[in-house]
Amino acid sequence: VCSADLLFQAKMKIVILAALFACAMAMPKRMIMPRLPASVIMKGKYQLIPEDRIVGGVIVEPNSLPFQVSLQRRGSTGTFSQSCGGSILDENVILDAAHCVRGITDLTIFRVVAGEHSLRNVSGLEQNRGVTRFVMHENFRPSTFENDICLLFLDAPLDLSVPEAKPVLLPPPTSELDPPAGTIVTVSGWGTTSSGGSISDELRSVDVPIVDDDTCNRAYGGTAANPEVFPSMLCAGDTSNGGIDACQGDSGGPLFTGTGASAVQHGIVSFGQGCALAAYPGVFTQVSYFLDWIATNRL
Ligand code: ARG
Repeated sequence: VCSADLLFQAKMKIVILAALFACAMAMPKRMIMPRLPASVIMKGKYQLIPEDRIVGGVIVEPNSLPFQVSLQRRGSTGTFSQSCGGSILDENVILDAAHCVRGITDLTIFRVVAGEHSLRNVSGLEQNRGVTRFVMHENFRPSTFENDICLLFLDAPLDLSVPEAKPVLLPPPTSELDPPAGTIVTVSGWGTTSSGGSISDELRSVDVPIVDDDTCNRAYGGTAANPEVFPSMLCAGDTSNGGIDACQGDSGGPLFTGTGASAVQHGIVSFGQGCALAAYPGVFTQVSYFLDWIATNRL
């Protein structure tokens, strides 16, 4: 029985590895390939999640997160599609993830939409802007996702006098520490509601507990000497049950506490292995770590 069992397990591993490979081959170009150490795959530390769990969140009250923007890209047919989130720092500047803009030279493909709720329906509250310039962190490393932060500069100021478009607050300079593990924070976006699923038409959010860097680093197969999760990153997720997380298309968007015009942004959606897996918390750029960088580059 035992050896048949082992044989079965070995076969399953091969099947799963083959499936992972097939998925990887079928992935559209702009998707981020998961950085999963082979040792982790072999140890079987992955887990499957039910298809229809968003990543556990809810559709938000329309325009209740006035700092959230949609960063869209124009395709060859001329239509825009959701590519990343982002947040409003002021009428001209959007905070985003470096990997959302990396390699793009033709800025005219970008559109920033503030006041957005349903991507499909026009409510009249949308403010569409082009991007004239961006500053990507000079030390963004695509291999590790360190310094996954950028600023986008808009072609015309947003009207922030309306309730549906407001800036997000940054953490105070004294808080260059992770919020303590277990702190409940919120992440929002139009990203997929499951790994490999489709974009959400309406803005969603989900509450997630902060996971300490050490636990998170080990989850990703990192060690102190050879980290996968760096001190400039934050992690959040449910490490017992999974089921709550950001996902593809949420990148660049905010991880925050509070709501409306008084929300404080702590993280920028950056990466994760799959989405909402108990074994792999979502990883975010830690905003408090980059306050100086933001201050010098936003002008
Ligand atoms: N890199 C993804 C994107 O471009 C988002 C990754 C977040 N994943 C996660 N499991 N938290 O949209």
